[in-house]
Amino acid sequence: MTTTDETLNGKVALVTGGSRGIGAATALRLAREGADVAVTYENGKEAAQDVVAAVEALGRRAVALRADSADPGEAAGAVDRTVRALGGLDVLVNNAGVGVLGPLEGLGLSDVDRVLAVNVRGVFLASQAAAGRMADGGRIITIGTCMTQRVPGPGGTLYAMSKSALVGLTKALARELGPRGITANLVHPGPIDTDMNPADGPYAAGQATMTALGRFGTAQEVAATVAHLAGAAYVTGAEFAVDGGHAA
Ligand SMILES: NC(=O)c1ccc[n+]([C@@H]2O[C@H](COP(=O)([O-])OP(=O)(O)OC[C@H]3O[C@@H](n4cnc5c(N)ncnc54)[C@H](OP(=O)(O)O)[C@@H]3O)[C@@H](O)[C@H]2O)c1
Repeated sequence: MTTTDETLNGKVALVTGGSRGIGAATALRLAREGADVAVTYENGKEAAQDVVAAVEALGRRAVALRADSADPGEAAGAVDRTVRALGGLDVLVNNAGVGVLGPLEGLGLSDVDRVLAVNVRGVFLASQAAAGRMADGGRIITIGTCMTQRVPGPGGTLYAMSKSALVGLTKALARELGPRGITANLVHPGPIDTDMNPADGPYAAGQATMTALGRFGTAQEVAATVAHLAGAAYVTGAEFAVDGGHAA
């Protein structure tokens, strides 16, 4: 059963952090458009297996891989494991991320190391490995945050710093891989209703107010833009806000 055009028919996608939230919605959206999908997770084995079952119910192949993005070998190794399991790699979605927010004085060295390992180093290593395994015409799509464009209050130093590194990475990847027709783009979600940032959480009302639309977005709304970029051949080095007007 398919519900949209199968523009990604025959493609293989890897979605890091695909067990829940934006990653899970993206895995399902890419599968609806025809892709076979690998998802990584850190602890959410059962949730990842549910995503695999949902992809298979759409008639696509899927595999769940335990791979901690904070571990350099596992971050890069997920690419090789995807190629072995599904026969290639056409689309990498760097989605796995951690949000550590709080006052500057309360952020310890372990917080800094963890956030940079997952949000920056893991993305670099997965992208590097993917570039080495992808055929020409591949896609690298990374999930940033609206906080790279506008930080609306205190507490975001570490998170905003880590995600801002992805702006430079994306532009540089676009330049380096452009000759092979491989595109690299960055999607900046605003407040999205997930486990990381529930729409009924203690800081939710304030976040919704900061958007032009006055509401949280859904993981599916972010996934739709990722899927568009997965099919777009003449878009690269670009940033896309899916933020309800948070940056307006
Ligand atoms: N929600 C928002 O408002 C929002 C806004 C802007 C940007 N973002 C970004 O969007 C991305 C997804 O966020 P989300 O809201 O969907 O988060 P989420 O609901 O907390 O889900 C996070 C996903 O990432 C995986 N993950 C976390 N750390 C990992 C690691 N070290 N190695 C492998 N997988 C890991 C989790 O796997 P497990 O199930 O194994 O834990 C889970 O699948 C993140 O990069 C986040 O920074 C979110």
